[in-house]
Amino acid sequence: MIRFEHVSLHYGNQTILNDLNFEIKEGQFAVLIGPSGCGKTTTLKMINRLIQPDSGHIYLNGEDVAKTDRYQLRRRIGYVIQQVGLFPNMTVAQNICVVPRLLGTPKEGYDDLVRRMLAMVDLPYESYAHKYPSELSGGQQQRIGILRALAASPPVVLMDEPFSALDPMTRRSLQLEIKQLQQKLNKTIVFVTHDMDEALDLADLIVFLDRGNIVQAAAPEEMLEHPATQQVRDFLGSHISGPSPADLTAADVMRTGVVVVNQNRGIHECVSRMQHHNVDTLLVVDEARRYQGTVSITDIRLTGHVVKTIGPLVRNNTPTVGVDDNAKDCFDLLASSGFPYLVVLAPDKTVAGIITKTSMAAAMAEHLWG
Ligand SMILES: Nc1ncnc2c1ncn2[C@@H]1O[C@H](COP(=O)(O)OP(=O)(O)O)[C@@H](O)[C@H]1O
Ligand SMILES: [Mg+2]
Repeated sequence: MIRFEHVSLHYGNQTILNDLNFEIKEGQFAVLIGPSGCGKTTTLKMINRLIQPDSGHIYLNGEDVAKTDRYQLRRRIGYVIQQVGLFPNMTVAQNICVVPRLLGTPKEGYDDLVRRMLAMVDLPYESYAHKYPSELSGGQQQRIGILRALAASPPVVLMDEPFSALDPMTRRSLQLEIKQLQQKLNKTIVFVTHDMDEALDLADLIVFLDRGNIVQAAAPEEMLEHPATQQVRDFLGSHISGPSPADLTAADVMRTGVVVVNQNRGIHECVSRMQHHNVDTLLVVDEARRYQGTVSITDIRLTGHVVKTIGPLVRNNTPTVGVDDNAKDCFDLLASSGFPYLVVLAPDKTVAGIITKTSMAAAMAEHLWG
C-alpha cells in the first residue's frame, strides 16, 4: 500500500533520513516511533508530499507519489496533527466538511456526512454540529480533527502525535476510538508517536527510527520478543518480560563472590579465612581455580593437627551443578540432598557460585515481584 524505497534526505550536510526501506500493507496500523528529532515527522510528511526526498521513491498503491498530483493525494490521504488546527471561525460541521468542499463534493450531502461522522465518535449532532472549536474540550477538538481527516473517506490517514497534548484519560479513550474506527473503516494508518505504550496498543507494524535510520521494523510481538538493539529494549522498558520460570538456570539463582581457598594452603590460613568471612566451610580449588571439593571447620578441628595442608581434608560430597542447569532441577536437588548449598561450576570446572535456600528464594522473589 505504502512503500519506501531507498528514501534519503539531507539538509545541508546533515543527514535527516538515511536510505529508508519499508512497506505498510493495506489496512495496517503502522506506528513510527523513536527519540525526538529522529525523523518521524519528516518521514510522515513525505507520504503526502509535504516534503520531498533527495533520493528514493515512495509508492502509494504502486504509484510514485512524486508523480502524483498533490490534489489527488489530498483526496486519498487524510492528515491529523497534534495541534488540531481546526478553523476557529468555522463550526464543527464546517470544519468537518473542509476537504469535501475543497474536492467539490456537492453540498447536499454535507449534513448527512456530518451526522454520520459525529455519530462515530459519540458526539450528538444536535449538541455539537454548530458549536465553534473554542466551545469544545481538547479531546473533543481532537475528535473533530480526526473526523475532518476522515470526511473525504481517504484510504490512508497520517497522524502526527495526534494525542500527545491530551490528558491520559482522554488520550486512552481516543486511542481506543481510532483503533476501532480504523478496523471498522479498514483504513491504512501511519501514526507517529514517541510513546511506546501507545505504539504497542495500536500498531500492527512498528517502525523504530533513530537519527534517520530504521533500527527495527516489526510487529509489536516480534519487537517485544526480539528487540533489535539496547535502545529499542530501553523504549520497550517494562513491557519486556523476563525469562519464564521454566527457563531460569542455575546462574540465575546462584550467588557469586564465594570464598575459595587453594588446596595447597595451610590449615592456619584456612581457619583465619573462615573466621574472616564468618563461614564454616570453604570451597577448595586447584591452581587453575578448578573446583576440588569443600573443607569444613569440623574436619579441621578433628584432624587438622596431623596435616600440613588442607588437601587431605577435602571432601567431595557436596552436590555440584552446571551454570546452565535448569533452576527447578537445582531447587529439587537442594531440597532433597540435605546439603546447605549446591556448588555451581562453569564449563571449565571453575567455581561460578553457590545456590543456597536464600539465594534461591531471592531469585524467585525477584522474578515474581521485580
Ligand atoms: N527545515 C529543517 N531544516 C533543517 N533541519 C530540519 C528541518 N526540519 C527538521 N529538521 C531536522 O530533521 C530531523 C528530523 O526532524 P523531525 O522529522 O521533525 O523529527 P521527529 O518528528 O522524529 O521529532 C531533526 O534533527 C530536525 O532538527
Ligand atoms: Mg515530530
